[in-house]
Amino acid sequence: MSTDPVAANIHAWDGRVADHLVAYGAEAFADDPTALRAETEVQLLAPHLPGGSLEGLDVVHLQCHIGVDTISLARRGARAVGTDLSGEAVAAARALAARAGTSDVTFVRCRNEDAPDVLGREFDVVLTSVGVLAWLSDLDSWARAVARLLRPGGVFLVYDAHPMLYALEYERDDGQLVLGKPYFARETPVEISDGLTYAAPARADVTYEWPHHLAEVLTAVLQAGLRIEAFGEHRTMPWAALPGMDRTERGFALPPGSPECPLMFSLVARR
Ligand SMILES: C[S@@+](CC[C@H](N)C(=O)[O-])C[C@H]1O[C@@H](n2cnc3c(N)ncnc32)[C@H](O)[C@@H]1O
Repeated sequence: MSTDPVAANIHAWDGRVADHLVAYGAEAFADDPTALRAETEVQLLAPHLPGGSLEGLDVVHLQCHIGVDTISLARRGARAVGTDLSGEAVAAARALAARAGTSDVTFVRCRNEDAPDVLGREFDVVLTSVGVLAWLSDLDSWARAVARLLRPGGVFLVYDAHPMLYALEYERDDGQLVLGKPYFARETPVEISDGLTYAAPARADVTYEWPHHLAEVLTAVLQAGLRIEAFGEHRTMPWAALPGMDRTERGFALPPGSPECPLMFSLVARR
């Protein structure tokens, strides 16, 4: 492949930031000190945290995008650091935090793999969620970085689209769930040029996604030396990835009578 897929992806993510600031309602979020996001992530983490709370904990949020969830973690009492490889996303996150007047949140531009050396310290919690793993070519180095970022006893959460969802054809209008894309991991990324994102129609930049099957995710985490404490497969998700999804109290779901498919997965592990 002559194109550098990571550079192409970051170019695309840089270009999405302005649209996503609007789609996320980011300024209204910043201006309302009671506004909180990342509710599902916090619920998934709570049973594994001392006192069930992020209060007073050092948290690093990998692939934080425009920082809305990271600021939410700080509003819940964490000392939060967000990292992302998109310079535009990190600049937007810093501007939102300044607008919100949130202390205890900082943003750093770096790759996940470089985060342990760039940040130079350990954390109580590492969190990454909602549209993250597909952008990574190598889950082994990702998991090793997560383990290096954690203090002994620290907790890791990944909550992301289920690999089965990524393998489906997204744009069918006949209600059928059809496997049209690779499920199993492979070295060559899948080229995407539909301009669709989870939050807004985006510029039609070409992006590259790497499929990662569940066993690959689990093996990477275990081989990095982490102990898995919880694993979940979920029937609801935070965005309407497929046509005809119903909006429910817990997120978007396939309509009643549809074939079944897990939409998200969650994994909590401890160093
Ligand atoms: C779908 S967004 C994450 C959204 C975020 N969870 C939220 O709810 O706002 C994916 C993020 O991953 C970042 N990203 C993509 N490839 C990356 C890489 N190789 N290393 C680090 N970050 C990357 C992008 O810049 C983008 O901000």
